[in-house]
Amino acid sequence: MKKNNNTDFNINNVKEEVELYGWASKVRNLGGIIFIDLRDRSGIIQLVINPDNNCYKIAERIRNEYVLKVNGKIEERTSKNSNLKTGDIEVIVTDLEILNESVTPVFELDKDDVLEDTRLKYRYLDLRREALKNNLITKHNIMMCAREFFNDNSFIEVETPILSKSTPEGARDYLVPSRINKGSFYALPQSPQIYKQLLMIGGIEKYFQIARCFRDEDLRADRQPEFTQIDMEMSFVSEEDVMNITEKLFKKIFKSIKNINIKLPLMRMKYDDAIEYYGSDKPDLRYEMKINNVTDILNKCEFSIFNNIVDNNGIINAIIVKNVADKYSRKDLDGLTDFVKKYKANGLFFLKYNNEFTGSIAKILDDEISNKLIDKLNIENNDLILITAGERLVVKQALGALRCKLAKDLNLYSNSDYKLLWIVDFPSFEWSEEEGRYISCHHPFTAPKDEDIDKLLTDKAHCYSKAYDIVCNGYEVGGGSIRIHKADVQKKMFEALELTKEEIEEKFGFFVNAFKYGTPPHGGLAIGLERLTMLLCETDNIKDVIAFPKTSSASCLMSDAPSRVDGMQLNDLKINIKK
Ligand code: AMO
Repeated sequence: MKKNNNTDFNINNVKEEVELYGWASKVRNLGGIIFIDLRDRSGIIQLVINPDNNCYKIAERIRNEYVLKVNGKIEERTSKNSNLKTGDIEVIVTDLEILNESVTPVFELDKDDVLEDTRLKYRYLDLRREALKNNLITKHNIMMCAREFFNDNSFIEVETPILSKSTPEGARDYLVPSRINKGSFYALPQSPQIYKQLLMIGGIEKYFQIARCFRDEDLRADRQPEFTQIDMEMSFVSEEDVMNITEKLFKKIFKSIKNINIKLPLMRMKYDDAIEYYGSDKPDLRYEMKINNVTDILNKCEFSIFNNIVDNNGIINAIIVKNVADKYSRKDLDGLTDFVKKYKANGLFFLKYNNEFTGSIAKILDDEISNKLIDKLNIENNDLILITAGERLVVKQALGALRCKLAKDLNLYSNSDYKLLWIVDFPSFEWSEEEGRYISCHHPFTAPKDEDIDKLLTDKAHCYSKAYDIVCNGYEVGGGSIRIHKADVQKKMFEALELTKEEIEEKFGFFVNAFKYGTPPHGGLAIGLERLTMLLCETDNIKDVIAFPKTSSASCLMSDAPSRVDGMQLNDLKINIKK
């Protein structure tokens, strides 16, 4: 077995004999002396093979990515390399064995300009790169930290089925046909939600699991079809209890991975305020640029576009971008208009201020309105004011997205800054245009606020729930809730979601039945492990923290999954593929 890692050695080990194993990361022949950068998981150490050495002939054959066994003596380097952990030393090789050869790698591992598709197709080569390897190590450390934390707090890790029944997290299920029960399907779990609640009914009291989850949904830079949750559930708890324990876990992880001391308790923001001021339920608080409601001020202008919108219950909102007016050309502003249109906004009006307003709607402002705007928005010279009007949610979401884009374009934040907060007091329901009905904002087991139980069937737009999300730098890193534990409330919730008796029976019959047997009050939360790892690794691409990720079309370029299966397999399952 390999006993030492390359980076175990430093200047204090000079003259020691060592045996090393690894890959030839770079081979250079300088005036007859062969230098090889030997790479193992820990890092690189330089090997030196002189022409009079017995193994010189072997060394001459070595190419990049050959696998080597090396014996040698550590010496101090004459020209040191401060970029390497082992940069003060080198190994004068005495014995060398090529354990395996490699064809020329399809891309140079130390180059950054490699297409993502190529990296995904040859992922096993990509994994040899420092950055990706370090991300996997960080993810491992987060998992170890979480396991230690939960163990110390009397949680037990329980596995729940992968071949399971559909869970209601709101995405499409991945289905697995059953051979034995022809025509029946397992669903891969979108989360362990139902099982963890059943574990509470089963008396487990404090559960956690590092759980694989599967969701067939549109993929984004922070979303994969299969991902991992640090999942937990507790009996006899309130919202406060779950949030407190989660905060403590975050504190431990941030300390252990980044040496950052998070101040507890974390800030809390009501869902309604998050939408009002940030146009998002996962606001990035690393920068300001809040959304301001200027409906009352600007509706006073004689401007039919604004007046008509407000007459139809619409709003006029603005964001102020400080001290950049001179940086934005007409063309830049047209670009921002196109951007907000992607979020269904009608358009974007702009004002620049330099002792007076100029811009697309400057002429509609009289002195009184100008002064009110300056006062309310604290406008100063060289500020850029971006305004949109329309239906409330459209305006909020468009300006919320614009706020994030501007912050990115203007470099207003750093990925090594962390702003964590809780979003609380979520509505129980959201209106789904697609389905023409109210659907759960979280999932149908989320407890409504006690005072809203009576409104579940009569005033869905104003029901709030005992749900909470933990948000960091514009990402929803985790979410959970106190659950309904009374059968009558659960029944009412299903009714509110317009599920028929048959649907309830078929989808959740076993679950509802279990509630009859003394269900304890309970609640929990799940953290998106990859999202947390992305944040701690300071990357915006979820693929950077997954060993074998899928593309945005949910396929694996390396293995070609999903792929066709042979007729025999389909026959066994009694499945015909429609042409
Ligand atoms: P939720 O659906 O909010 O809650 O998921 C919890 C967290 O999982 C992460 N996440 C994802 N990460 C990567 N790719 C995805 N496709 C993906 N989907 C979700 C997010 C999210 O905050 N059962 C509930 C939890 C509970 O109520 O206890 C649940 O799954 O970071």
